[in-house]
Amino acid sequence: MDVGHFHNADQIAYWNGPGGQRWAERQAQQDRVLAPISELLIERAGVQAGERAVDIGCGCGATTFAVAEKVGPSGHVLGLDVSEAMLARARALAPADAPVEFALGDATVHRFKAASASLVVSRLGVTFFAAPVRAFLNIRTALRSEGRLAFACWRELRDNDWAFIPLQAAYEHVPKLPAVRPHGPDSFAFASREWVEHVLGEAGFRRIRLEPCDLDLDIAAGGGLDSAVAGAFAIGPASRAVAGQPADVMEAATATMRKALSGYVKGPTVAMPASLWIVTAIDP
Ligand SMILES: C[S@@+](CC[C@H](N)C(=O)[O-])C[C@H]1O[C@@H](n2cnc3c(N)ncnc32)[C@H](O)[C@@H]1O
Repeated sequence: MDVGHFHNADQIAYWNGPGGQRWAERQAQQDRVLAPISELLIERAGVQAGERAVDIGCGCGATTFAVAEKVGPSGHVLGLDVSEAMLARARALAPADAPVEFALGDATVHRFKAASASLVVSRLGVTFFAAPVRAFLNIRTALRSEGRLAFACWRELRDNDWAFIPLQAAYEHVPKLPAVRPHGPDSFAFASREWVEHVLGEAGFRRIRLEPCDLDLDIAAGGGLDSAVAGAFAIGPASRAVAGQPADVMEAATATMRKALSGYVKGPTVAMPASLWIVTAIDP
């Protein structure tokens, strides 16, 4: 697919392959799991009626729709993503009359309408760039002077039980994933405060603030332990660790996963600690 910067080819392939497919299939559950993050992000972004906004790595569109509700009919939200499968889901879910538009493209090189937006948001969609400074320089072209950037990203894997505990359970049965570069690209690439400040500062953003936020995410999306186990094998680091394993290994890993997650069960929920940054900055 010729939508991206060649350095991002692996990520673009992943999000157009099994990764994006599983997110699209599990969209309803994922949006329920991640809803507390959107709420926090939208509140911190201070979305105003009539604003033009961009949602980077919009996936199946949940955050795009939530921002669109706030900007109202006089505003506009562009959702940008590299994943055709996730964008197809977003387009299918778009409420009639919502002031939204979706585009297939890599935030590193996409030609945004210059200085057209007053706000750029992202829920977990800006940590997959091979050249992050270049990506944020390009994202800045979309913003007009004094435009705001607001995104959510994960802090350290170890501080995110929702990902760390399932991964350790998987590692009892499958080899460890290859070591990733310290700053990604991957889900945890923006765990370091210093790195985020460096990337955004080099890209020309100012008044950069990182607010640590800890919350519990119901990884079962209200569907109990079986749903949490299925989710852990479909999305997140454990899903990558078990990819392609035969049925007997998966059976054993499923038993371990159930045991590992059972301590977090509360009624129909499996509430696991998550640790994020809400990052805000200004394009001067
Ligand atoms: C963890 S998912 C989050 C999706 C969505 N924001 C949500 O919260 O449901 C990361 C998203 O970033 C997108 N993505 C990855 N690299 C990208 C890039 N270079 N440009 C635009 N989107 C990208 C992926 O396709 C995927 O939809």
